[in-house]
Amino acid sequence: MLFPGPRERAVVAPGAVHVPGWLSLEQQRELVSACREWAQGPVPIRHTVLPGGGVMSVQTVCLGWHWKPYRYVRTADDVNGARVAEVPEWLVELGRAGVAEAYAGACGEGSGYAGGASAAGVYAPDTALINFYDGAAKMGMHQDKEERSGAPVVSLSLGDTCVFRFGNTEGRGRPYTDVELASGDLFVFGGPSRFAYHGVPKVLPGTGDPAIGMAGGRLNITLRETGLT
Ligand code: SIN
Ligand code: MN
Repeated sequence: MLFPGPRERAVVAPGAVHVPGWLSLEQQRELVSACREWAQGPVPIRHTVLPGGGVMSVQTVCLGWHWKPYRYVRTADDVNGARVAEVPEWLVELGRAGVAEAYAGACGEGSGYAGGASAAGVYAPDTALINFYDGAAKMGMHQDKEERSGAPVVSLSLGDTCVFRFGNTEGRGRPYTDVELASGDLFVFGGPSRFAYHGVPKVLPGTGDPAIGMAGGRLNITLRETGLT
């Protein structure tokens, strides 16, 4: 049984901000239904096979650029050779709103985005990774480092709550903070935290609200700027 404490906005590390309950139920429903379509193709969702032969427990589909470990490619040669769908403008705008929300006030110091987009140009994510976690899926500690841009990563969570481990830029170990990411939560990491190690040690099955259109499991969308052309 979960005994949730107060879920309040938190600066987890400099440039890393958690905003619980940011998305409305309606936005969550729309995102779930969009993810369901993206999962069909043009490149269908699948378990990514790592170069060493390991198979990721999460299932992934990408927009804009296809993430083939460990680089971004235009065509999904490790799946069906197709080009992935574009990142729709409404999702770019949602990402922009997420950055503005997370870095409102002093939270964005050092991120390059403090004070709103006008201070440092407009956040323009050109890729999104959509990950589906069944109750047993996890993601090991890693850095998002295939991008050639220091722009923030915007993460949106849907469905079951997970434990999200947010660490440091030096390595996979401590210090780290475990944060519960629930459906509708926004998490942005940029600035000094942009290349921090992070992972998902656990999903908490049965914690999601079926009203958003998910029977179970967790979806996470991360928006990124690749810096590639
Ligand atoms: C990721 O690290 O790319 C995904 C994080 C998450 O599922 O919350
Ligand atoms: Mn990541």
